[in-house]
Amino acid sequence: MMLSTQKHLFSLKDTIHYLNCAYKSPLLKTSEDELLKAVQKERNPINFTPNDFFEDTEIVRQLFGTLVNCNAKQVAVIPSTSYGLASVLNNISYTTGQQVITVENEFPSDYYSIKRWCDTHNAELKIIKPNAELKHIGENWNTKLINAINHKTAIVNISSVHWMTGLKFDLEAIGKKCKSVNAKFIVDGTQSVGALPIDIKKYNIDALICASYKWLMGPYAMGLMYISSEFNNGIPLEESWMNRTNARNFKQLTNYTTNYGEGAMRYNVGQTSNFISMPILKSGLEQITRWTPKAIQNYCEDLIVPLRNYLQNLGLVFEHSKYFSNHIVGFTLPSTINIDLLIKQLEAHRVYLSVRSTSLRVSVNVFNTTKDIEKLITVIELTKK
Ligand SMILES: Cc1ncc(COP(=O)(O)O)c(C=O)c1O
Repeated sequence: MMLSTQKHLFSLKDTIHYLNCAYKSPLLKTSEDELLKAVQKERNPINFTPNDFFEDTEIVRQLFGTLVNCNAKQVAVIPSTSYGLASVLNNISYTTGQQVITVENEFPSDYYSIKRWCDTHNAELKIIKPNAELKHIGENWNTKLINAINHKTAIVNISSVHWMTGLKFDLEAIGKKCKSVNAKFIVDGTQSVGALPIDIKKYNIDALICASYKWLMGPYAMGLMYISSEFNNGIPLEESWMNRTNARNFKQLTNYTTNYGEGAMRYNVGQTSNFISMPILKSGLEQITRWTPKAIQNYCEDLIVPLRNYLQNLGLVFEHSKYFSNHIVGFTLPSTINIDLLIKQLEAHRVYLSVRSTSLRVSVNVFNTTKDIEKLITVIELTKK
């Protein structure tokens, strides 16, 4: 399927150029409608039936399961990536001499979570760095990471694409190596799931944890997590009545039970139903399922190629396609660009993206058009020394 621009499904004005979905997704019009309905429903509590506490959660688990190729039963609703990481890491035991592997400049919620696991168990944390002297770091970085995984590795925790540069990790090869040495493969999918196809089975992922407010077009403070069935008997962070087998029977809740619902249910955050936010997550996932991550990625590629060509002419080097994602592209500007002027001009032309020192992170999605990219190129041209 070929997608054309989907800007009409959002409320972004033509006068702004929002190249920052990696920061936060704009709200879909359908999500806004659902949100308004949800707010209106709050007017009167008698509108809420016991079924309402569970129904949308089940649909959302199903939609996410389809997106990442897992059984919906293995999906849990979480409030943040850090919550999902803690839920999983608390259930990974340690054997003397084991190590954890991650990469340099990994997202802080991941780093702090695995750091705590390492500190608790006195385990070594191995941080794999890219070779900064190479023009293309992707191949070498992935190889170094894969070679570092051995029988002492308890956990490999990385993001599916690097959150600062969009560099793609070879999840299939890393997952295969993890499996061969029995290491747990924990992937933070926040910066790609929704915009890039992923398959937990093909990649041998043990836990896939995603905040939803970027590429899943969900609300802030809601995320989703796949965990393998190995965690199904684990201890969740909290004990919510909602996750027990008798939860749907409101008249019998104090017939306490020791049984949790099936699969990953025990890891659902308390008050899972989140009546205001859940409709946003649901309609975001429904829309992404209709578009498909593959078509979204192709659309992003068509947008990014002209920018990439332009920047290559300025002397920049980009990763080969295997390690390059089209929805997030981070790059360091050449010294011929006046960065202070650039920041001012971006603001003046209402081009929104992430700037960090002399690096820019451009992220695109189906609400962007070639006009947004052309505007960015115009602004860069204006700021040449
Ligand atoms: C890779 C990655 N993971 C996670 C998050 C969000 O983390 P949390 O849900 O813990 O706030 C972000 C936000 O930018 C991110 O880029």
